[in-house]
Amino acid sequence: MRGVSFISLAVLLLLATLQEVRSHGDQPLAKIDIRRSTLALHASAYVNASPAILGLKGQTTEWVTLEFSSPNPSVDDWIGVFSPSNFSASTCPEENPRVYTPLLCTAPIKYQYANYSSPKYKDTGKGNLKLQLINQRSDFSFALFSGGLSNPKLVAVSNQIAFANPNAPVYPRLAQGKEWNEMTVTWTSGYGINDAEPFVEWGRKGGDHVHSPAGTLTFDRNSMCGAPARTVGWRDPGFIHTSFLKELWPNAVYTYKVGHLLVNGTYIWGEKHQFRASPYPGQNSLQRVVIFGDMGKDEADGSNEYNNFQRGSLNTTRELIRDLKNIDIILHIGDICYANGYLSQWDQFTAQVEPIASTVPYMIASGNHERDWPGTGSFYGNMDSGGECGVLAETMFYVPAENRAKFWVTSLLLETKDLEQRPRTATLKQKEECKRQWYSTDYGMFRFCIADTEHDWREGTEQYKFIEHCLASVDRQKQPWLIFLAHRVLGYSSGTSYAVEGSFEEPMGRESLQSLWQKYKVDIAVYGHVHNYERTCPIYQNICTNKEKHYYKGTLNGTIHVVAGGGGASLSPFTTVQTTWSFYRDFDYGFIKLTAFDHSNLLFEYKKSRDGKVYDSFRISRDYKDILACTVDSCPSMTLAS
Ligand SMILES: [Fe+2]
Repeated sequence: MRGVSFISLAVLLLLATLQEVRSHGDQPLAKIDIRRSTLALHASAYVNASPAILGLKGQTTEWVTLEFSSPNPSVDDWIGVFSPSNFSASTCPEENPRVYTPLLCTAPIKYQYANYSSPKYKDTGKGNLKLQLINQRSDFSFALFSGGLSNPKLVAVSNQIAFANPNAPVYPRLAQGKEWNEMTVTWTSGYGINDAEPFVEWGRKGGDHVHSPAGTLTFDRNSMCGAPARTVGWRDPGFIHTSFLKELWPNAVYTYKVGHLLVNGTYIWGEKHQFRASPYPGQNSLQRVVIFGDMGKDEADGSNEYNNFQRGSLNTTRELIRDLKNIDIILHIGDICYANGYLSQWDQFTAQVEPIASTVPYMIASGNHERDWPGTGSFYGNMDSGGECGVLAETMFYVPAENRAKFWVTSLLLETKDLEQRPRTATLKQKEECKRQWYSTDYGMFRFCIADTEHDWREGTEQYKFIEHCLASVDRQKQPWLIFLAHRVLGYSSGTSYAVEGSFEEPMGRESLQSLWQKYKVDIAVYGHVHNYERTCPIYQNICTNKEKHYYKGTLNGTIHVVAGGGGASLSPFTTVQTTWSFYRDFDYGFIKLTAFDHSNLLFEYKKSRDGKVYDSFRISRDYKDILACTVDSCPSMTLAS
């Protein structure tokens, strides 16, 4: 029987993985078989790129114009953007000499078809293209290929162009620190610790400013767990710096800019930004939270488009920027940018969200596309991370996870240039522990317990203990709004992928955790992974505990489960099966917003990314005594003795 159940579990996991692949589409860059490419250089073919120098006024994003020509044009000719500009065979890492060395071994950072803005290219052989580039620490070249994506033939290579300072500090992103009055600033640059001292200059708006030092992280190709992250998708990540701004005044406005002091005494500055410090836990003030999953990235110039992959991402980003003055904190609960092992995409994602993440805390959770890789300690043994095995997510974004400190110690040492000094003591078990990304964070009247579904959450595990402690340790009189967050749907979803299994959830989800949600009276649980929007009734053990749909007064008696996975990646369909617990379904891109007006009033809204308008909502009005009130399985037994 054990053998049979093991096989059933394996089949279930395989089905889940297949569904995953179908519903997410492919990483567009994976369509290019760069290692099969051959040379077909032609004397009369050319690609010209201009301007030669970008970012002369300090910009980190610029549009470039390409003009190109081919004597043998075809509809599947395409232009690849390479960075660094030298993408020849000389950059290919040594392989087994018996293996034929590929002529090219690095994927482009983006690509577009040659006839995209030149419909007559096939007839004239001439075309032009506008592409948006971001500063990502290296120069660029543009290559014209024939033979489509699967059989590339290199026809011509452009001149090289570069940002004025490729090493410039870029894309600052804020995150809540371990303490309520601490904000962390993480950014990326080309300056290692031997080149410059990284720091943040910051202070109250209009007041004195101080310098706080930053730690620096990086990693090498060997830190990747497999292909493509370790092969054609590898790109030098530069240096990732994090500074901890401490002892902030609640709700006070601070300005900051990141900087580097070079060894020659020169200062290099990032742009100036400002943020509002987080409220004190329990503080009674207006608090607005946005939550979504699976946003991914998209290109404003139309490049990398394949099968409508992530077309919603830019809409979500645009709406959040438009409404940013009415948002206090953002939680992006997994499947961050779908780089899937093509590392350049992380820079492009941090550039896309910079206006948001540099202004409000941008908290992430771990998803399958960040973490999963066989044999590396992830709960699921699929290959969704493309070999990243969590390294990119945990380095590019800060989260106040307990295990983060261990990760920092090992990673900081990794930056040591002297190979002999690199740590060899970190065991595989320690490295796996560092990748556990569950954490809690408080925001005024909210307590968020953020699970990591890519690691085991079942009873008896370290994560289960964390979840119980997070839910149990909050003082609901001060922080009445208790929110559980996770990437995979541990509660309820009518997404086809779960419905065909008959589980309507990630297997072992609510079976493991619903007693905790009920005992500690979790108000709302939000998930991603399924790319649509869905809201349930307040529910416990598959039964609605409250039939009201829009206004909850008094105790909920259960938890409201929400799927908010429509951040941007290609949408997931619903089953046609009607369930009693599914109150609202939307096959569209969107995100949710929670507004706590005070300790007794919460507004929930679902907004579509296309117009920012509210399409579903409800209110909760209740007092502390309503949280104390006993419901099914929510109170310990009482005695009549007095
Ligand atoms: Fe996912």
